[in-house]
Amino acid sequence: MLAEKRILLIIGGGIAAYKVLDLVRRLRERGARVRPVMTAAAKEFVTPLSVGALCADHVFTDLFDRHAEQDVGHIRLARETDLIVVAPATADLMAKLAQGLANDLASAVLLATTAPVLMAPAMNPRMWAHPATRRNHAQLQADGVTFVGPNTGEMAEAGEAGTGRMAEPMDIVEAIAARLAGGPLAGRHVLVTSGPTHEPIDPVRYIANRSSGAQGTALAAALRDLGARVTFVTGPAEVPAPAGVAVQRVETAVEMLAAVEAALPADAAVFAAAVADWRVANAAARKMKKDGSGRAPALEFAENPDILARVAQMRKGRPALVVGFAAETDDVIAHASAKLARKGCDWIVANDVSPATGIMGGAENAVTILSPDGAEAWPRLPKDEVARRLAAKIAAVLGAGK
Ligand code: CTP
Repeated sequence: MLAEKRILLIIGGGIAAYKVLDLVRRLRERGARVRPVMTAAAKEFVTPLSVGALCADHVFTDLFDRHAEQDVGHIRLARETDLIVVAPATADLMAKLAQGLANDLASAVLLATTAPVLMAPAMNPRMWAHPATRRNHAQLQADGVTFVGPNTGEMAEAGEAGTGRMAEPMDIVEAIAARLAGGPLAGRHVLVTSGPTHEPIDPVRYIANRSSGAQGTALAAALRDLGARVTFVTGPAEVPAPAGVAVQRVETAVEMLAAVEAALPADAAVFAAAVADWRVANAAARKMKKDGSGRAPALEFAENPDILARVAQMRKGRPALVVGFAAETDDVIAHASAKLARKGCDWIVANDVSPATGIMGGAENAVTILSPDGAEAWPRLPKDEVARRLAAKIAAVLGAGK
């Protein structure tokens, strides 16, 4: 798996840097070529001499090293690699990449690369828990960076315990192999719809719903992380679209249908969008004005196409797996099972969106997966975790060649 793979190893400045010597040894045993970059702080913890000897390569440390720049150059370092591994990934390195800073060799290489990036964070538990690090971690995940660890346990500082220990070298090796393998959805195309739709009343007014797009966005990112090529068809959502997916922005249900049809064929299609059921049939071409009569205008509605049902019932070219969501406020399971049958999809992800649950627009979701095989109720989880589990379930089915 790792034979002849080119790994650029960025060593950050932390006490866990000593474990990286073992990581290098294990990677080289498996045939990988490891090219090391050290930050200035890393050199305080391990010497370039030992790192260079173990890697059998030049140790790159300085953005302004004229010889190294002439010889290889930071852009080539960033390009000529199959994977960049940052270990230990310090709070500082995470913050730099999350912000797009590039004021030393390590951060410049991270910004200049198109190769996948795997980070093994290591820091004091309070630094890991700090809201700034939480933000950077979330941002980097959204940008497609994969993480291994940190683990929970005793820290190097006497008496300190918590989450912040770097993952063990063998766990990092496994994460590297998994990332290089491209994931279980490598070569698969998955379509995801997300967000609300806006249905115009006139050029300045529209009808919308409370969907933030958070669940669909998290799902697109999780599918991407498993190696899928993702087409992400999104209405005007509150949360930004994930990096590393093909984004198609639409506003109305009719536009969403067109974008979905244009994106097919796909191996799987997941319909997480909260599509408006009706559009305004008599939408005005100009802004509607009060006419002084005191009478309110009457809106006429027309039913929107059911995008999920259309795709689920395609005779030719139907995706092997079609997954719908069911947003319900009462009798959740009964309504969702009826939807499964009516729409003809393979699974329905049912969730209770009654206001008391705080799910619509919130950070968590409690879902039940309905399929012809039965119901699987998951506990209330962060939307990211629901997304990861759902992506893994999709990968299991597609991998098995459903
Ligand atoms: N959906 C769709 N196109 C529509 C309406 C819904 O693709 N015009 C999809 C949603 O993305 C979701 C599923 O259908 O995956 C169910 O959406 P939901 O709003 O819960 O159901 P509706 O079909 O609108 O049924 P109802 O309004 O009766 O609850």
